[in-house]
Amino acid sequence: MVDAGKMHRWPLFMALTAVSALRCVVAEQCISKGTAGPMIITASCTDPLFNTPIIALEADRFDPVPHRLVSGHWNGTSVDFNIYLPLKNQWENRFFQSVYPTQNSTALPEVIAFGAASGAYTVQVAGQLGYRADAATAKFAKTVAREYYDDTGSSRIYGYIYGGSGGSYQTIGAAENTHGVWDGASAIVQAIPGSVPLNLCARALGNLILRKNAIQIEAALRPGGSGDPFLELGQAGRAVLKEVTNLGVPLQAWEDFLEPANSENTLAIFEPAIKEADPTYADDFWTKPGYLGNDPSELGSLFRAALVDIFATIERVEYDSENLPTTLFLDKIPSELTAGFEFTLYDDTGKMAIGNLGGVLSSEDNSLALSPVSNTTIARAISQGRKVRIDNRWHLSVLSYHRHQLPTRSGFYGF
Ligand SMILES: *[C@@H]1O[C@H](CO)[C@@H](O)[C@H](O)[C@H]1NC(C)=O
Ligand SMILES: *[C@@H]1O[C@H](CO)[C@@H](O)[C@H](O)[C@H]1NC(C)=O
Ligand SMILES: *[C@@H]1O[C@H](CO)[C@@H](O)[C@H](O)[C@H]1NC(C)=O
Repeated sequence: MVDAGKMHRWPLFMALTAVSALRCVVAEQCISKGTAGPMIITASCTDPLFNTPIIALEADRFDPVPHRLVSGHWNGTSVDFNIYLPLKNQWENRFFQSVYPTQNSTALPEVIAFGAASGAYTVQVAGQLGYRADAATAKFAKTVAREYYDDTGSSRIYGYIYGGSGGSYQTIGAAENTHGVWDGASAIVQAIPGSVPLNLCARALGNLILRKNAIQIEAALRPGGSGDPFLELGQAGRAVLKEVTNLGVPLQAWEDFLEPANSENTLAIFEPAIKEADPTYADDFWTKPGYLGNDPSELGSLFRAALVDIFATIERVEYDSENLPTTLFLDKIPSELTAGFEFTLYDDTGKMAIGNLGGVLSSEDNSLALSPVSNTTIARAISQGRKVRIDNRWHLSVLSYHRHQLPTRSGFYGF
């Protein structure tokens, strides 16, 4: 609810820079939809989080095209922004604003040039979750633009927000929850609730089961091929290709097999979050009914065949100048260096785990090139005779993580 006694003044940038007319717009505070709903941003309300823009710099710049740069941040936040205003004779009353959760406030040169060539100024805000900082800056930038272009406020300024992937969520959120801030919104590479990590899990499952048939699958999908990649597969392969297709990977994408299949590096980024959310999942996967690791099916046997879980003995250790271990030479390593190995240091008996190691195996000299070992307890415990457990139990289990999720609403027909 709006507290009538809490009318906020819009402290325009002249509060600090003391330029231009001292005009104050009395604005109501923006309010949420319902008690816990998203904040609805209108053209005239003030967002309580982003209510005081502070200008740090106004300067004329010439790269990549001549423009006026206005840089600032929102008081009491770490959110900064840049506004790039092309020359007056280039401006056609519009602006563009790209959004992405991890972007910084510096627009790429081509983005600024694209805006100028299209009669638009460019607004860029440091990445946030949501659309509120972007909306506040879009509104503030209109004031800045009117000042710069000596526009009295009579003509409308048309704004366009766009973003891909994580930015697609922000773009849709902006379109749904703002009025009179932007006039158009374009979501690119639309993300969905299954995008991460489940899309990556499904693609890695496709890789594990289908890669031995990659050449036939590609040939079937290429011009002149049969068009039906299922024909080339056994029962487990057919089931997995159908599962992965239902989860959203376009069938035709497998024409270039590695494109969809190669998700393991990105999946590795999300594995720690899965472990934290679901610490017993890998044990469940390999021991409980209903999970592929313990399933009597052909697919289950393919998982068990891919399982690596060995104890190697450290034969020699190489150290750097600060006496930190850098490379372990082992008595054995897995015969096939697939993705997703984890390394755990054990005592000499292989009974007691000491700590986790990171690194890359090489089959040339049976070595494990260690990631920097910052934990001194672990660094000191590394020595000849100790064991290193090398396993992919977690990684393999995660490839069917989507099978154990319950969507909270309808529409997820692949689950
Ligand atoms: C910025 O916020 C601080 C802390 O609330 C306040 O003291 C200061 O006056 C604000 N600056 C402006 C320009 O409003
Ligand atoms: C902002 O992000 C771009 C693109 O990632 C990067 O090239 C640039 O160095 C970053 N600028 C600052 C000031 O961090
Ligand atoms: C170092 O590793 C040991 C064994 O995993 C762990 O108990 C300890 O908390 C770690 N220390 C730090 C500072 O992370």
